[in-house]
Amino acid sequence: MSATLSPTFYDDSCPDLKWIVDSVLQAALLKDPRIGAKLLRMHFHDCFVQGCDASVLLDEAQGEKTAQPNLNSLMGFDVVDSIKSAVESACPGIVSCADILAVAAEVSVVLAGGPSWKVLLGRRDSLTGSKRLANRDIPPPTSTFSQLVKAFKKKGLSAEDMIVLSGGHTIGASRCASFTQRLYNQSGSFQADPTIEKRYLFNLQQVCPRNGDGNVTQSLDFSPRSFDNNYYKLVVSNLGLLNSDQVLTTQSQGSAALVSALSRDQTSFFNRFAVSMVKMGNISPLVGNKGEIRNKCRYRN
Ligand code: HEM
Repeated sequence: MSATLSPTFYDDSCPDLKWIVDSVLQAALLKDPRIGAKLLRMHFHDCFVQGCDASVLLDEAQGEKTAQPNLNSLMGFDVVDSIKSAVESACPGIVSCADILAVAAEVSVVLAGGPSWKVLLGRRDSLTGSKRLANRDIPPPTSTFSQLVKAFKKKGLSAEDMIVLSGGHTIGASRCASFTQRLYNQSGSFQADPTIEKRYLFNLQQVCPRNGDGNVTQSLDFSPRSFDNNYYKLVVSNLGLLNSDQVLTTQSQGSAALVSALSRDQTSFFNRFAVSMVKMGNISPLVGNKGEIRNKCRYRN
């Protein structure tokens, strides 16, 4: 199926697609430095639920936006709307919202100083979304290493892809709600996660007091606007923010070895991230006559 996606899909019908996305995003970054991180994550959450089909964008009462991993957490939908209107002005009825998410993820990474890759294009948009599948298929931050591997395998991605794509956490932030259990009650122990470095634990407890506001945010990496390999340096030093970050070194020796290699070699991380992003973008796309090209990303036509 993925064979029908192609980097040249819009070369004749919408040749400026990438530059349109780029210019909307550059303007958006001035207002919200985190927008690139939000859009990178959005592509991931799109692809893991029914494939990369823009199902995450649908405004529906029981839509994916209301699922646990997305509610009060996934953001940037207004900027996707702005990109879509700019693209529609230049090439009406041509470019799918699913492809816009794939291009926006790549442009976001490049604008943050990360690698570029040839985005495969030609996806079509779904007619429906699924809250149930979003709850089932997007792994929670409390996941163990083997749960993460399983969730990615289910989507045709390897353990190595999972480790490399987790490097997306080099940009952006998390809400306290996604990691407070580690600070006070890891796995029902009423203790902090013993794998958190002690001073970091103390600092995080100041940012996220017990029973505090779960929407307060903390950077996933100490350079949250820059796409680099610092994420892996942190994880190696037991300074991973989410449980799912830290288990990459504490629950598998093979994974710890790869994390350590990536922490020492940014070029290798960049090359591998680009390859794994293309793989993730290939998860069950709708092609040919399936689905539609939405007029507005939030609604089916
Ligand atoms: C390995 C499994 C993963 C888990 C369990 C996970 C979980 C999370 C969680 C809980 C947050 C914080 C959400 C919040 O508190 O509102 C987050 C943020 C983020 N994730 Fe992941 N994630 C995973 C993989 C990925 C992948 C594959 C990518 C992209 C390649 C990605 C990109 C991001 C980005 C960029 C952010 C920051 C978003 C922002 O600043 O708004 N994550 N992730």
